[in-house]
Amino acid sequence: MTENLTRDSDLTTVATYRRTIGASAERVWENVLDWEHLPWLHSGSFSDIVCNGAGEWGWRAQVRYPGGDHQSNIELLTERSADRYVTRVLDGPGAGGEVWTSVKGVDARKTDVVVEFCARVPEGVEPDSMGAGYVALYQGLWDEDERMMQQRQLALDKLAAKPVSTTGAKASTELIELGTRADLRAKLPLRVEALGQQVQVVELDGDFIVHSLVCPHSLGPLGDAPIVDGEVTCPWHGYRFDVRTGRSCDGRRLRLNAGVRLEVDPQTDVVRLHVAAETATKASR
Ligand code: FES
Ligand SMILES: [Fe+2]
Repeated sequence: MTENLTRDSDLTTVATYRRTIGASAERVWENVLDWEHLPWLHSGSFSDIVCNGAGEWGWRAQVRYPGGDHQSNIELLTERSADRYVTRVLDGPGAGGEVWTSVKGVDARKTDVVVEFCARVPEGVEPDSMGAGYVALYQGLWDEDERMMQQRQLALDKLAAKPVSTTGAKASTELIELGTRADLRAKLPLRVEALGQQVQVVELDGDFIVHSLVCPHSLGPLGDAPIVDGEVTCPWHGYRFDVRTGRSCDGRRLRLNAGVRLEVDPQTDVVRLHVAAETATKASR
């Protein structure tokens, strides 16, 4: 962990942005250290990232920006004892700039952040107009981050809750009848929540498929992403999964869909959804 960060005294504070985030300080710090989400969650501001090192101390990475060849090396260093971190642009657009952020937890669902933008102001440029640009950019980034933190908290809360079947009883497996194949086809895509898990039934190449809507990496919302050629790409960090098999499409040791399956009764043509709580819960962490 980095301690005793120092400010570059040659820089001018061009703006300060204050905001209460609707998530705990734990979620905020998790998000701060999560370099991997930049080109996915913030795809309007970053197009790629290559990490050169990361830990509790922060991270260093090369980022690219959309719509051109611009790139920068940036570093984010934490000073947890002072509840703050700094992001420095080491080269490229905005080189030399520093963004200092203090993080103060208010309660289990609220955190105050104060963001100070420090820059070298070129001659002829108004510090206020430069500051307004930074504030507009960071407002958008924090909007996206806040939504992610709140969705993740909700998913964590569901995992922590005891599984309860749709009949209200505590259960480790649940069986739900979805109607005949013709009934089901008319309702697709069909989202179902069972034992605290969200799943979706779709039809791919004539087969009914059930897949989890929760990413096994960090519980990202797969329902926000389209299925393309049988694959779903998580909107938070871009991990890809085959919704038919649940396997990772990019070589990661993660698996989707553990504990969910469909079966068709050959006598009645009724489709049944099976959800196993324990297996699915483990796979989602
Ligand atoms: S939550 Fe990270 S890739 Fe889905
Ligand atoms: Fe972010």
